[in-house]
Amino acid sequence: MNREKLDGLLYEALETEQGGVKIYETAVRAAVNEDLREEWQEYLEQTRRHVQILEGVFESLGLDTDKQTPGRQVVNVIGEALVEAMELAQKSGPKEAAEVVAAECVVLAETKDHLNWELLGQAARKLTGAERRALESACEQVEDEEDEHLYHTSGWTRELHMQALGLPAVLPPPEEEKDVKTAIGAARAKQQREEML
Ligand SMILES: [Fe+2]
Ligand SMILES: [Fe+2]
Repeated sequence: MNREKLDGLLYEALETEQGGVKIYETAVRAAVNEDLREEWQEYLEQTRRHVQILEGVFESLGLDTDKQTPGRQVVNVIGEALVEAMELAQKSGPKEAAEVVAAECVVLAETKDHLNWELLGQAARKLTGAERRALESACEQVEDEEDEHLYHTSGWTRELHMQALGLPAVLPPPEEEKDVKTAIGAARAKQQREEML
């Protein structure tokens, strides 16, 4: 395994989580649906914890949490743009439209967050000793939550769009009702949405 690339991924992952805190702080303000606001509030708290968990990994691996890398800067720019897009929608349109924009922005951010942790889980197996234990333990603590962040918010985004289109919507979405934690589970939940209407 290319160790330098793993370090690079860890810097991106920390930036993703730090940006994620700002994204959820903005998204919570944009939520109209009470259940969704509660869900995002919970994800905000989990994301704050993910930052701390990663800081622990950085300490175990002897990495500097303040170091800037080109990859990290890219993640930062995307995160800032997502916050800006949500704020623009909140300023310029009806609150229901701003809520859908926020949901889309959360899905975009969580797609990266989810991918980071999936890759870190794979990379951890190639480490040894204390480093391996530190990264594996971090992944174990975070992985299930990342599944929920991505799959449940994707469900919310689809159903909020359906509602906006004036079509039958399942709210809260099937992904949340069925407590989906895998891609195959998300596909199954989506397939069952017609029956849930
Ligand atoms: Fe996270
Ligand atoms: Fe997440």
